[in-house]
Amino acid sequence: MHKPILIALAATLGLVALGASAAPDWSKVPGKTVTVFYPGVSPIEWITTGTEHGGARGLKKGEVCLGCHEEETADMGKLIASGGKVEPSPIKGKAGSIPVNVQAAHDAGNLYLRFSWKQPAGGAEKMDKDNQVKLAVMLEANKVERAEQSGCWETCHKDARTMPGADNAKTKYVAGGDVKAGKFYDLIQWTSKGAKHDGYVADKRVMDGGQALVDAKGVKQGDEWVVTFTRKLAGGAEGDITLVPGQVYNMGFAIHDDYTQGRFHQVSLGYTLGIGADAGIKAVQQ
Ligand code: HEC
Repeated sequence: MHKPILIALAATLGLVALGASAAPDWSKVPGKTVTVFYPGVSPIEWITTGTEHGGARGLKKGEVCLGCHEEETADMGKLIASGGKVEPSPIKGKAGSIPVNVQAAHDAGNLYLRFSWKQPAGGAEKMDKDNQVKLAVMLEANKVERAEQSGCWETCHKDARTMPGADNAKTKYVAGGDVKAGKFYDLIQWTSKGAKHDGYVADKRVMDGGQALVDAKGVKQGDEWVVTFTRKLAGGAEGDITLVPGQVYNMGFAIHDDYTQGRFHQVSLGYTLGIGADAGIKAVQQ
């Protein structure tokens, strides 16, 4: 037998033996365009104050961010990145938004997420010199109040690090966050220097210690980034939510492009993720 065939066979047998599953055929998984945008200083305190945010009243009545803003995130990002609103220190040349193709799939054991986007122009001073790009995903199991409306904004506060005047040791958190009570966001992150993190955000942000993340990979093909995550449905540790086929969860994601950190990222509004169930983003069964 040829050596490559032997290796392929051994690899297949190995996977079967471990009970692991292969990544999905992404060409068969539908994509959804989510335009992440630069949010400036718009923490949840700003969002929920009627005199500041035009949507505060609607939010109180149960409307979702997406309902009012889905079509205009590129305009919002442009306005904010240029310093036209809620950004006291605009970054020169900052992209206001990035359209991202999002794909999701699952099998009996894992959730698979794939994000691809065109690298926007950059060139600003490097805040995180080690990482040109980072991508984080937060998942929430319908326990955090208002999470189904506001996505990751429940973790974004005016006193968190990199906000104007804030303590640099204060991470993002959930008001009333309690990992034991399920009031937290599960957090996974890929960074372009090759690190991966599996943590959560409850009363504070914890970057590691989770056992659900199997793999996080990213490559740049020409000017396009492609980042994929493989995550166990079952979770595994404190701060890992258990994903059940047929159920719907809250999901948001953020890209730190052009060597940025802290609040200087591009973020999605809150989406729903269905594990084989209809939702804003549906992880199709493979
Ligand atoms: C009921 C509709 C509604 C909802 C729900 C809503 N907003 Fe808004 N939002 C507005 C309006 C109106 C403005 C002011 C826009 C303007 O001046 O034209 C605004 C402004 C903003 C801005 C400033 C940028 C801009 O274009 O003015 C941000 C950021 C923002 N909203 C984020 C959010 C987030 C995040 C949520 C969910 C947590 C949300 N909004 C929910 C209506 C809404």
